Amino acid sequence: MTESIVVEHASKSFTLRYQRTLKQMTVAMAKGRDISDSFLAVNDVSFSVQQGESLGLMGLNGSGKSTLLKLINGIMRPDAGSVRTRGRIAGLIATGAGFHPQLSGRDNIYLNAAVLGMTEAETNRKFDAIVEFADVGKHLDSPVGHYSSGMFARLGFAVAIHVDSDIFLADEVLAVGDRPFKRKCLERMQEIRDSGRTLVYVSHAAGSVRKMCDRLIVLEQGRLGYDGPVGPGIRYLKYDEEPDTPEDEQLDEDLGADI
Ligand SMILES: Nc1ncnc2c1ncn2[C@@H]1O[C@H](COP(=O)(O)OP(=O)(O)OP(=O)(O)O)[C@@H](O)[C@H]1O
Ligand SMILES: [Mg+2]
Repeated sequence: MTESIVVEHASKSFTLRYQRTLKQMTVAMAKGRDISDSFLAVNDVSFSVQQGESLGLMGLNGSGKSTLLKLINGIMRPDAGSVRTRGRIAGLIATGAGFHPQLSGRDNIYLNAAVLGMTEAETNRKFDAIVEFADVGKHLDSPVGHYSSGMFARLGFAVAIHVDSDIFLADEVLAVGDRPFKRKCLERMQEIRDSGRTLVYVSHAAGSVRKMCDRLIVLEQGRLGYDGPVGPGIRYLKYDEEPDTPEDEQLDEDLGADI
């Protein structure tokens, strides 16, 4: 088997600033208070993913999931350790990244496709399929700055899935989509998975992770808390609370977490 993503002791730290203005900083320093502090958003994380594996990534808000995806994508470099990937990477790791609000949906498809490494000829060829998937109707020629959040996400996802890649990264892509669109996205991601590409899928929706992934990693304050099969990982994530009470299931249902 070929390794697709290899993360070895990767760490990424950020600086927290407590004081913003020069005056505040001077006063804080005079009083001997800290003006900034650094913390590890990703803390000594190691794992590897085989080509064709589909990996779920879960954890509480702020646990470092998006940061880890950015390290894999190459948008950020780790401060320590290493992250190696094999092949072309595509995906949606921040809704609206690579879009220009004043350009139309049509122009943004070309812009975003170029950012993701597609040539103009390739984009021309796939243009109709992208438009059909995004299904933003008559808004295609309006500036995307006026799009609803769901429409924005549709356009981004539509472009990302049409890039030929070896690794597909998806960060909570389904969060703002409506139910029919979520279903369409999941079907498309299943196709991506079944075609032997590597998938890394970040989501808070346990149901969709169960459906999509054959392995789960849980991050806890930047550290790798769990790496293994999906079912026990989801139970681990609940921190030994009462497993699946009817209220939890209702909440999942209400939030559309089942698909
Ligand atoms: N550019 C940045 N500068 C400073 N701090 C940052 C930066 N990006 C992320 N952080 C911090 O790093 C931590 C991890 O953030 P991250 O976005 O990776 O979390 P997450 O697991 O994706 O959370 P969520 O479930 O809310 O999407 C958070 O405390 C966040 O505030
Ligand atoms: Mg995130």
